[in-house]
Amino acid sequence: MNALAREISSGIADCELTHLDRAPIDLDRARRQHAVYIECLERLGCGVRLLPADSTLPDCVFIEDTAVVVPELAVLSRPGAESRRGELPVVEAALQAVRPVQRIEAPGTLDGGDVLRIDRLIWVGCGNRTNAEGGRQLADHLTPMGYEVRLVSQHGCLHFKSGCSQAGAEQVLLNPEWIDPGLFPGLEVIEVDPTEPFAGNVLKVGDTLVVDGRFERTVERLDTLGLPLEVLDNAELARAEGGLTCGSILLD
Ligand code: GLY
Repeated sequence: MNALAREISSGIADCELTHLDRAPIDLDRARRQHAVYIECLERLGCGVRLLPADSTLPDCVFIEDTAVVVPELAVLSRPGAESRRGELPVVEAALQAVRPVQRIEAPGTLDGGDVLRIDRLIWVGCGNRTNAEGGRQLADHLTPMGYEVRLVSQHGCLHFKSGCSQAGAEQVLLNPEWIDPGLFPGLEVIEVDPTEPFAGNVLKVGDTLVVDGRFERTVERLDTLGLPLEVLDNAELARAEGGLTCGSILLD
């Protein structure tokens, strides 16, 4: 498996924030934690292409939001936050080397963080950064390729995947305060510990789950279920409202 990632902008202090108050971000510490994240992806077998940061694009490290990539195609997103639209050209150039590229057009908006794919099923959380038109355009691109795209309403957290993510082949980890477990019939739902609302964002690489060790109780729950784990610390980028899936686009 390959992955795209992007360095952290020196301007990250000016990142978009929706549900969090602004708190100082220690750029050196963020970069050290990010380097560990990249090393972890490599250890799990990903060939990582690390794209350069741009000091004028505070959120550019959160590359997940810029595209939805399936084996057959890449769909360049149109981020809901205008400040993030300049992130696309560098990502587009990288994707053109590996996939045919389509795009979400105005008035559609779509952030990759609102898109959860489990095999051929795709959920799109609409209501915050992603609008219904963006979701419909994504469905228009992916349905002909055999994907079923389900548009769902999402409001409790920044991105759909701030509150849920794939934990196993047929398992979803979620925070039921933000994400309705009824969205996932046929899948086993694992709930985060109620004291750890942000623990629902984990990154599945192959069979391994990359998890944030700050969420000890949820990590223990996943460990008890026998899921193979890689435990990292995402504390600094979490202050910029970024989770573990936000830092990469996996190309499977
Ligand atoms: N800071 C991440 C975002 O709001 O897009």
